[in-house]
Amino acid sequence: MKRHLISAADLSRDDAVLILDTAEELARLADRPIKKLPTLRGRTVVNLFFEDSTRTRISFEAAAKRLSADVINFSAKGSSVSKGESLKDTALTLEAMGADAVVIRHHASGAPHRLATSGWINGAVVNAGDGTHEHPTQALLDAFTVRRHLSPAASGVGQDLAGRRITIVGDVLHSRVARSNVHLLSTLGAEVTLVAPPTLVPFGVESWPCEVSYDLDAVVGKTDAVMMLRVQRERMNAAFFPTEREYARRYGLDGDRMARMPEHAIVMHPGPMNRGMEITAEVADSDRCTAVEQVANGVSIRMAVLYLLLGGNESAVAAARTEESK
Ligand code: NCD
Repeated sequence: MKRHLISAADLSRDDAVLILDTAEELARLADRPIKKLPTLRGRTVVNLFFEDSTRTRISFEAAAKRLSADVINFSAKGSSVSKGESLKDTALTLEAMGADAVVIRHHASGAPHRLATSGWINGAVVNAGDGTHEHPTQALLDAFTVRRHLSPAASGVGQDLAGRRITIVGDVLHSRVARSNVHLLSTLGAEVTLVAPPTLVPFGVESWPCEVSYDLDAVVGKTDAVMMLRVQRERMNAAFFPTEREYARRYGLDGDRMARMPEHAIVMHPGPMNRGMEITAEVADSDRCTAVEQVANGVSIRMAVLYLLLGGNESAVAAARTEESK
């Protein structure tokens, strides 16, 4: 494992499987009345959020707390950032607090990379979503969710996603979730197909390790998981499709389309969902939709990432296992 987690593209297959397996062990904690491990006692994790977040922020907070770390939550709103303080000065302040890990979400693509390479801070940097670039822990929790559903024996420990077909649908252009997932899923051996209107397919997609289709109906029948993306209006500075109805009709997932998916196939969504736009309420609330489960899995994945980046090793995981069997 590298010292930071900036991009899903930096993860080797072995790194990714180690994170998934570690998360699988840590997930068993969630079933116990006392959910805490002493592993990161005395370490400080700072959550540095310059952009809105519900799931990711509380998930990192829960993960750090379940490992007994001290957690400092920083959100740009209400801080000196709104007085114009720079990323550098904010980082120097965090360093003065002795942060062992900094989890950063920023509207600018590349901000976590800057933080990791600047020398301003010594701790590990974890990218919790930067602009339209990457969101590696989301991709990890998505891969974890797919593996649990498609390789249920001991939840697929040690396994990758070789041969699985995953379809990612919607606003790929603005989606850091899609970018991270394409890299990670292909590293894990899955076959990834992107489906989007031509206006929402990024430039340079030919060099990504995936197929591209403009026809959702042509792919839903032969996929193991369909991942719906939110239409990210806040990042749109132009009209990318004629009307919402038109978008929903061609690229949304409704009950009829879901019925044409193979019986075992799941529907995923990173949240927040636009019900009635990319996904109907019927699909969002159906048993096949894993959106809520993805949130729960996110805590285990983030525990695994913090644990491994802050010096955990396999023997310590084994120690957690020993403790668990007591
Ligand atoms: C995503 C994000 O913020 O990139 N959400 C999340 O982290 N669960 C996707 C989105 O905002 O649509």
